[in-house]
Amino acid sequence: MRDFHERMHAAGVYGLWELASQMTKHPEPKAVAHIWKASLLDAMIREAGEVVPVGEERRALQLFNPGLDGRWATTNTMIAAIQLLLPGETARAHRHTPTAIRFIMEGDGAYTAVDGERVYMRPGDLVLTPSWAWHDHGNETDTPVVWMDGLDVPLVQFLNAMFFQMHDAREFPLTKAHNASERLHGAGGLTPTWVKERPRSSPLLLYSWEATWKSLQALRDEKGDEHDGIAFEYTHPQTGGPVLPTMSCWIQMLRPGERLRAHRHTGSAVYCVVQGTGETIIDGRRFAWEKGDILTLPSWALHEHANRSSRDPAVLFSIQDRPVVEALGLYREEAG
Ligand SMILES: [Fe+2]
Ligand SMILES: [Fe+2]
Repeated sequence: MRDFHERMHAAGVYGLWELASQMTKHPEPKAVAHIWKASLLDAMIREAGEVVPVGEERRALQLFNPGLDGRWATTNTMIAAIQLLLPGETARAHRHTPTAIRFIMEGDGAYTAVDGERVYMRPGDLVLTPSWAWHDHGNETDTPVVWMDGLDVPLVQFLNAMFFQMHDAREFPLTKAHNASERLHGAGGLTPTWVKERPRSSPLLLYSWEATWKSLQALRDEKGDEHDGIAFEYTHPQTGGPVLPTMSCWIQMLRPGERLRAHRHTGSAVYCVVQGTGETIIDGRRFAWEKGDILTLPSWALHEHANRSSRDPAVLFSIQDRPVVEALGLYREEAG
């Protein structure tokens, strides 16, 4: 019997009887729930600003999930990073098949240029960089700008679909007016009929904090979702679907003192605390959070969010791989 197994394995063959434990009753992710505190990230990114030149690459701190053995991954499908651009700096134009979002944490008036359009960014704005779009960044202001990057790098690597290309020039040529996509597609429910393209990723490159906050405020007295509070998904203006084929972006508000009910679902998420103080209990572990903290949620982990302040609202931004999970018919959810 032992000899048989050795010959099998040498031939690249395994018996299903050896693998039964991999058919788990429910997802058992290697990725773990983890929090990166703002105080630590802030000190590190500032030190990076002093010791690491922006060079040909980005000055971005990649958050590695402690459960994923040093892989470039914050969850099994997504990477989150904290990026700093100092006054006067530019980040060279490149493109890649992984799709990216930026959520602006600090600094007013730096830009991301996407396929010839400059998008000027303010704190709380969400900026998209679709797959294979040329993009560069610049900070012409006199203060540093810090944002969270979110990309589907681990998913693209798993699918063996990674392509990367550096542009010849430092900046991709500008062909459109600044914030052109916001003028065209940012009217909320009004889609220009003469625009015939229906890209997979949202053609609206910037979702402003001003509009997001207004929407949160307008519905603050609604019941909202028992697990997610006053939660919005940012949507593709032409389809109403997720902003990106592989990642959805959410913003959610917890009212003062609000404690939401626990649930679990397939798909992973990375949360960025926009404002307020609260806690999330994930599979029995309590993660206290405040502005600027980054928190990961693995698939199928039981989680509940609470606002610990009795005075101020708490707001969480998140990226989620739910569009992939749903497209494959694998989304499942249950209340805790
Ligand atoms: Fe990039
Ligand atoms: Fe959830």
